[in-house]
Amino acid sequence: MHGTGESGSSLSDRADALEHEMLDQLNEQIATKSLLYNLADGKRSIDGGRNLLKGKPNARLLMGNDPRLPVMPEKPTLIDFFTHRFASAMHLLQSAAKARNAGLPEKQIFACLLHDIAVSGFIRADHGYWGAQLLAPYVDEEVTWAIRAHQALRFYPDESVGYAYPELYIKYFGADYKPDGYIEDEYKAAVNHKWYMTARMITVYDIYSFDPDFKVELSEFTDIIGRNFKQPKEGLGFDGSPVAHMWRTLIRPTKFL
Ligand SMILES: [Fe+2]
Ligand SMILES: [Fe+2]
Repeated sequence: MHGTGESGSSLSDRADALEHEMLDQLNEQIATKSLLYNLADGKRSIDGGRNLLKGKPNARLLMGNDPRLPVMPEKPTLIDFFTHRFASAMHLLQSAAKARNAGLPEKQIFACLLHDIAVSGFIRADHGYWGAQLLAPYVDEEVTWAIRAHQALRFYPDESVGYAYPELYIKYFGADYKPDGYIEDEYKAAVNHKWYMTARMITVYDIYSFDPDFKVELSEFTDIIGRNFKQPKEGLGFDGSPVAHMWRTLIRPTKFL
């Protein structure tokens, strides 16, 4: 017989078997959700997830790439995170495009492009602070200041630039919602700051709802990113910066440790 192995199966059977084996291997890499997600589900596991392996003698906890996510390049750039990790990049692209079309200075367009990267790739709560921190080593301080402040400014109108309290927030949070004290403090400190308008412009061009007809390509902003983002040559996550671990967590968000 032609093309058989010791098991007597055909070449394509063996290929299928091999594929199954690879899938099984992936299935045996148990990916864990972050503790925060377990907490949100009301689960406060006391064993730190160690019983995940119970009854699965061949299983291992995931310590590498999550097979469900696109593989990142070895030396990832900001653009790679846009294309491989950021869930709602179109919101960022549409905001930046509106700012560009309105003729805003490049630094403000760039701030609009990155204002919600924490929401897109990391975490929603206190997203202005997380976003600013992720970017601090790589961008002008005015950009991170504005990204942090936009979180608070969104709750406060500024008639001078036509910014009203968002209708959407009334729907989201109720008409009687009052921002937390630290947000109010942040707003009061921001109003008289020299970079106030940079943060305010983010709120002006922050689009309230996704517009499916407004098509924007990331390539329209490649030059602006190139001029305003100090891309580390080792790749984001591997440059030894104080926030490298945050980028690594974005690369492998379900790594057990
Ligand atoms: Fe935001
Ligand atoms: Fe936004």
